[in-house]
Amino acid sequence: MMKERQSAQILVTGGAGYIGSHTVLELITAGFGVVVVDNLSNASEQSLQRVTELTGQAIPFVNADLRDRSAMVALFQMNRFDAVIHFAGLKAVGESVSKPVAYWDNNVGGTLVLLESMERAGIRRIVFSSSATVYGDPQRVPIDEAAAIQPTNPYGRTKACIESILTDLATSDPSWAIGTLRYFNPVGAHLSGRIGEDPRGLPNNLMPFIAQVAVGRRERLSVFGDDWDTRDGTGLRDYLHVVDLALGHVDSLRRVLQSPGHWTVNLGTGTGYTVLEVIRAFERASGRSIPFEIVNRRSGDIASCYADPAHALALLGWRAERPLDQMCEDHWRWQSNNPSGFASTQG
Ligand code: NAD
Ligand code: UFG
Repeated sequence: MMKERQSAQILVTGGAGYIGSHTVLELITAGFGVVVVDNLSNASEQSLQRVTELTGQAIPFVNADLRDRSAMVALFQMNRFDAVIHFAGLKAVGESVSKPVAYWDNNVGGTLVLLESMERAGIRRIVFSSSATVYGDPQRVPIDEAAAIQPTNPYGRTKACIESILTDLATSDPSWAIGTLRYFNPVGAHLSGRIGEDPRGLPNNLMPFIAQVAVGRRERLSVFGDDWDTRDGTGLRDYLHVVDLALGHVDSLRRVLQSPGHWTVNLGTGTGYTVLEVIRAFERASGRSIPFEIVNRRSGDIASCYADPAHALALLGWRAERPLDQMCEDHWRWQSNNPSGFASTQG
């Protein structure tokens, strides 16, 4: 039984991206067969070449958009998948405010074509990348899965909408196995320093921005407010090592391969750190100083957001193990070895 499960064939949408490439690596290490579909709108195929270099295994890659029905039909005709891990989507909160139609079209439209293709092929097992952003400004922290869903931006609303579609699907046909994962703040990189987050343009998120300051690509970090209701006045978040997150997908996959049903879990550490604490940790890890200035609050931000991760432990046996210092060390190794991301070197 175990052997059969380990050789299962998994379609990974968005597998060339940041979290996807780390997950592909852990899936291959765990013995799963993987095919990646990605339109490379926010990724480089080099991430997969590097996963091949690390695992010694070629990764079948299809360069296609999930909204391309004929490409998706062909993909499912040519392969016999046991399950899908669905990362593909646009994820920038600010951009979603200025381009809502593109976000709804890509995230919800792409998911609908994927689900139609799965239904047609008789594949009813999926692990979906949702986000803690569906909780909006939470009434209390830590946040458990029963907290209200009240996203405050178009990106978050696309995630909440996809969650509803998956709920309707599970209700319509209980033979579906659906795992929805609400990630908190993924950071860090694989220990090898060969793959990592490679944002295009100005990074939206804290750790990639700090890393670019440390490596000399940016002059200083802007800290968005020091008057929040937190221990030092700066925003507090639940940072999660991307390798822990990738391993959470392997556990989730095992669960959907094992039994039908619909479940939702938070993937976070359960511990929050402030912006100033992250800066200090990154300074320790990199041995560089991170110049910063306090500026106005960023619109849409909240004071504190961290997970109650108990349900993931109970359901999947998963818990995050890598501490903040390791997140920073691994992020720094990736950034310092690849100062311009995947464009830094060939191969
Ligand atoms: P990413 O941008 O690195 O990866 C997403 C991948 O999907 C990219 O490689 C992109 O090219 C691809 N893609 C996008 N639209 C596509 C389409 N229509 N067809 C085919 N491929 C498409 O982002 P990531 O950080 O790896 O995030 C992965 C998933 O996790 C996303 O769904 C994101 O919303 C979700 N998530 C991310 C975070 C985070 O902070 N990184 C937090 C919570 C949830
Ligand atoms: N911050 C700064 N300066 C920066 C960037 C961020 O001070 O240049 C602060 C923010 O104000 C916040 C903290 O650092 O207090 C973290 O900000 P991020 O942008 O890294 O993360 P968010 O929690 O705001 O949002 C992220 C993703 C969302 C996702 C959410 C929950 O961008 O897509 O985590 O998973 F929904």
